[in-house]
Amino acid sequence: MKLLVIGGGGREHALAWKLFQSPRVHHVFVAPGNAGTAHEEGLENIPLTAIPDLIQFAQEENITFTVVGPEAPLAEGIVDAFKAANLKIFGPTQKAAQLEISKTFAKEFMQRHKIPTADFASFKNAELAHRYIDKIGAPIVIKADGLAAGKGVIVAQSAKMAHDAVDMFLVDKQYGSAGSEIIIEKFLEGIEISFIVMTDGKHVLPLATSQDHKRLSNGDLGPNTGGMGAYSPTPFITPELHAKILREVINPVIQGMKQENSNYTGFLYAGLIITPNDQDIKVLEFNCRMGDPETQPIMLRLKSDLSILIEHALNGTLNKVEADWDHRTALGIIMAAQGYPEQPRKGDVIHGLLNLHNQQQSDNYHIFHSGTAFGGLDDKEIITSGGRVLCITALGDNINLAQQHAYSLANQISFNGSQMRDDIGYHSINYHQK
Ligand code: GLY
Repeated sequence: MKLLVIGGGGREHALAWKLFQSPRVHHVFVAPGNAGTAHEEGLENIPLTAIPDLIQFAQEENITFTVVGPEAPLAEGIVDAFKAANLKIFGPTQKAAQLEISKTFAKEFMQRHKIPTADFASFKNAELAHRYIDKIGAPIVIKADGLAAGKGVIVAQSAKMAHDAVDMFLVDKQYGSAGSEIIIEKFLEGIEISFIVMTDGKHVLPLATSQDHKRLSNGDLGPNTGGMGAYSPTPFITPELHAKILREVINPVIQGMKQENSNYTGFLYAGLIITPNDQDIKVLEFNCRMGDPETQPIMLRLKSDLSILIEHALNGTLNKVEADWDHRTALGIIMAAQGYPEQPRKGDVIHGLLNLHNQQQSDNYHIFHSGTAFGGLDDKEIITSGGRVLCITALGDNINLAQQHAYSLANQISFNGSQMRDDIGYHSINYHQK
């Protein structure tokens, strides 16, 4: 079968790479892909992003099914359009994707269905937002209602930071319509984890647990990013907590969506906080897709055939299948471009990739590309072309070994101005040292 993956980041590289490992899959097209997917055996980039062009391509190429990586095409209605053209596609409809597209929708949905989340208020008016901050005080969290490429959340440690964030969204309109409405919510202390499932609208298949590192700098300091590294599994989700998350968060979402005539199919990502004292959980956000970079370590651990899991999800039979995972820990380190997250520089030549690409046939690691392209000498060199550039993802028998393995690989790669944290996985390491 021939498959199509929509997107061009590290998540899509990992999904397409995993799909091609199936003996049933002969070719995976990636639209538009990156320099990593261009080099990968069995994968082929196609330079298309407009939905009508993608539909025409899927029809002409007889694509068995399409998998959507990022949120933007979901928000544009790619799933609705493919379904209207009788094409199989895995992802939520535009209506169901409101869970990620609108933070206000998500919070009100959680209230309607009694899903645990922090108290909040929504504002379009800056004056009222400032008054609310004066009443509540800091620390406090300000979020753009719409999609803002991972930059729409400000964790304000002081009232001044919170007031500045309100002005940035509602007065200066730096994020345009995505920030024309904001929500302000209580800051929650605790450990943040990612819980991602596949669903066919009735049944749920949980994927391996993971933890992201959203801040730019070591020790979870600095500005928020799309994620600077992730590992799987995380020790913070005990079997009891796993069952509680399914009971109190995931199942109510699937049921609630059905009740609201918006059957949810696709990947569903709950960003959760586990409060320190009692194994209590609260939802920070929902995403209607896999996480990036969580996908990279999760896919490195997946032993099952991803194409079979997705076919079950498309056929409504996810209850008939289970996912099998490598017992080892996988850890992915993001190498980001100079200036990320504010103004990433493009065009820096990346050195050291060739040797690592040639050796990665062993299944112990994989270098997933995010923002890369061809350029430099004869257009044959691999250059940076986005904020997050690479995710160096490696396996180890435990978190320490996975961390050492991934950093030993990352240290063989270089480009001007590269940024990477050197503590990915530290929460888990500290947990195991206790
Ligand atoms: N890693 C965070 C996200 O994918 O939204």
